[in-house]
Amino acid sequence: MALPPKTPYPFDIHSGQGHRMDRDIIICEVGPRDGLQNARTIMATADKHRWIAALAAAGLPEIEVGSFVRPDLVPQLADTADVVAQALTIPGIVVVALVPNAKGAERAIAAGAHKLTVPVSASRAHSLSNVRMEPLQAVDQVRRIIELARAAPHRPAVEVGISTAFGCSMQGEVPEDDVIRLAEALVEAGAEDLCLSDTVGMANPRQVKQLIGRTRAAVGDRLGALHLHDTRGRALANALAGYEAGIRAYDGALAGLGGCPFAPGASGNAATEDLVWMFEEMGVRTGVDLDGLLRARTMLAEALPGEALHGHLHQVKRAA
Ligand code: COA
Ligand code: ZN
Repeated sequence: MALPPKTPYPFDIHSGQGHRMDRDIIICEVGPRDGLQNARTIMATADKHRWIAALAAAGLPEIEVGSFVRPDLVPQLADTADVVAQALTIPGIVVVALVPNAKGAERAIAAGAHKLTVPVSASRAHSLSNVRMEPLQAVDQVRRIIELARAAPHRPAVEVGISTAFGCSMQGEVPEDDVIRLAEALVEAGAEDLCLSDTVGMANPRQVKQLIGRTRAAVGDRLGALHLHDTRGRALANALAGYEAGIRAYDGALAGLGGCPFAPGASGNAATEDLVWMFEEMGVRTGVDLDGLLRARTMLAEALPGEALHGHLHQVKRAA
């Protein structure tokens, strides 16, 4: 498919001060959204703000701070409008919010989010469970969300995450052809930024490389990001496979929190600290400071007592 060049963002969404400019990859911290949506306790709004400020201070350039979904279904994130408002006072970060439909986009735009993430499942079973829509209805919502974003005065960016791109715990195998057809339909609907999401952590590195290659052959640089879960312990291996296939943007959640409440068996995201640690030691600059992440982790542990935290950096540092 021959595509016109991407629309430049109306503001430089990855600019910041000092070391923030010197990055080879962008890590988007999704702990306040993907992490907290699956947590047993609800974090207080003031604690979320302190935690997000600590994540920003560690140098994370993008933070997905919540979602505009039905508050009765995900009460952990019912305060997202307030969390966005507070996050907008932190300089130098891109404030991201997840939206499943046009109603969510209207709420996110009213709150002033810089960027909207829209989940669209490649698996029909997950789509019905997660957003109560057929995948094609979800594509239609993407079209409407992009129209709303383009009409908004601050022109938020829109990224579409293709959920269950590597497999689904309800449907089982997700054929690559389905993912590619969906990616093409999303681009057709106006999406300029796509992310492949391993919602239930079923991917393996060979599959990651292959699907990225095939998706890029179909939609080129519209595919820019990977969202990985560590359910089977493969998140770092898959991140490396993604890097070798040309991906330069990753989602991660501090302490490996996370998981979709509407996909059975979904557990934690790639731990941000382990992603940063691995890439930095490889000489791939993230712009993120490990000590800063450990400080944010201590804050997280205090704000969510009783929640199981994961990640290797913390264990290795504690043992040292
Ligand atoms: N935010 C808040 N309320 C919403 C909403 C949104 N984004 N979208 C719809 N609603 C409200 C409608 O206004 C309506 O309210 P009313 O009964 O008071 O009129 C009600 O919800 C039903 O609307 P409908 O369009 O039929 O939505 P739905 O009930 O089919 O729900 C979702 C669709 C996607 C909003 C819902 O399934 C959801 O929030 N899922 C959570 C998904 C999630 O967080 N997954 C994890 C991250 S990927
Ligand atoms: Zn996820």
